[in-house]
Amino acid sequence: MDVEMLIREAMEALKNSYAPYSGYNVGAALLTERGRVFRGCNIENAAFSPTNCAERTAFFKAVSEGERHFKAICIVGGKNAKNGAPITDFAAPCGVCRQVMLEFCDPDTFRIILAKNEDLYEIHTLRKLIPRGFGPSNLGHADKKQ
Ligand code: THU
Repeated sequence: MDVEMLIREAMEALKNSYAPYSGYNVGAALLTERGRVFRGCNIENAAFSPTNCAERTAFFKAVSEGERHFKAICIVGGKNAKNGAPITDFAAPCGVCRQVMLEFCDPDTFRIILAKNEDLYEIHTLRKLIPRGFGPSNLGHADKKQ
């Protein structure tokens, strides 16, 4: 897996972050098993609750394009991260995004890359970020998703 490439893709996605209310900008790049990359950014809304996280934007773009098998996601961002200043935080995914990942990803093989730049990053398994999660296997749907 080309981690640096995925970080660059997430940085590109970050440029489109629409976060006028929180000022917290996030970009994500989702790598499919077939090697396609889907970018996502957070998209806020004046009514607040319609806001979509960067990770879910990437997942929903990919799934709506027929992709169901994923290798990794890279996430970059932070407060005012869009302004070109160095990113000082590792932007961890929220609980809702972890749950969406669990719907489509094997918790032991899917990788979550949190990056500040191309040289500074952490790699986590989904299992580590959502231990004892409730997913498709709890409903007996491990291998038969329609
Ligand atoms: N946000 C993400 O894009 N991903 C996360 O996992 C955490 C939160 C966004 C949503 C909102 O636009 C802003 O960050 C502040 O919560």
